[in-house]
Amino acid sequence: MALAGKLSLEGCNIVVTGGARGIGLDIARSAREAGAHVVIADIDASLGESAAKEIGGSTIALDVTDPASVRDVVTRLAREHGRLHGWVNNAGIVRNAPAEDTPDEDWRSVMAVNLDGTFWCCREAGRHMLAQGGGVIVNIASMSGLVSNRPQCQAAYNTSKAGVIMLTKSLAGEWAGRGIRVNSVSPGYTATPLLEQVRAQKPDWAAVWQSETPMARPAEPSEIAAVVVFLLSDASSYMTGSNVVVDGGYTVW
Ligand SMILES: NC(=O)c1ccc[n+]([C@@H]2O[C@H](COP(=O)([O-])OP(=O)(O)OC[C@H]3O[C@@H](n4cnc5c(N)ncnc54)[C@H](O)[C@@H]3O)[C@@H](O)[C@H]2O)c1
Repeated sequence: MALAGKLSLEGCNIVVTGGARGIGLDIARSAREAGAHVVIADIDASLGESAAKEIGGSTIALDVTDPASVRDVVTRLAREHGRLHGWVNNAGIVRNAPAEDTPDEDWRSVMAVNLDGTFWCCREAGRHMLAQGGGVIVNIASMSGLVSNRPQCQAAYNTSKAGVIMLTKSLAGEWAGRGIRVNSVSPGYTATPLLEQVRAQKPDWAAVWQSETPMARPAEPSEIAAVVVFLLSDASSYMTGSNVVVDGGYTVW
């Protein structure tokens, strides 16, 4: 098949967690442009509703930290759509605090969304994909899973994202022989509401981020989404267990 055909997601059902805004919304939009039917699964139901309307997809309320509701959502989507071709674990949160001052609840909530939530979704979507004979999972990790980026202190976030990278490799090895590919994407600083929140609290950090990024700018969410669509598509058919770093060169220094 020609490359354009391999890159197409025509006829595929793709679920994007945290797809109501930021990187997830651009993943949803790009997958839609590639021909997929996209389901935005987000904790913010009303934002999910307007995002789905904007891109011409559908939406379902989901809190990835709740394993029972993840199971229910997968069961419901499978009943409504049949085959789930692809699942993108993008929902994520960040808390910044020096390690010695990190409140218990901040550590727990970051782990609950970023790592536990990614596992609950992989497990439930993976179970369904094993039964249907294959599928593709893409986990959104971070360059912070590879380097402890400065100047912010975010031990919980960095650790959760390192866990996502290793979870990806573990599942890729377990499921490769049964038709499921599992890869992760590790963005660098990306212009989203999440980055904006951090920047609003600490205006002087942006200059450090820029000076430590060889390309000297944040990514646009669409620059992350393009790589995710590639990983969802047959153009990446020999890739599993990979962590694709999209960071404007941050990790070369
Ligand atoms: N923005 C960056 O600089 C950057 C860099 C590296 C990695 N990332 C990662 O990319 C992903 C998306 O980040 P973003 O910047 O677009 O964030 P964002 O805050 O702009 O959007 C996150 C989305 O996730 C949803 N969400 C949060 N908790 C949820 C939960 N428990 N269940 C379901 N949905 C939930 C939110 O409602 C929101 O729609 C995250 O995993 C983040 O860690 C972001």
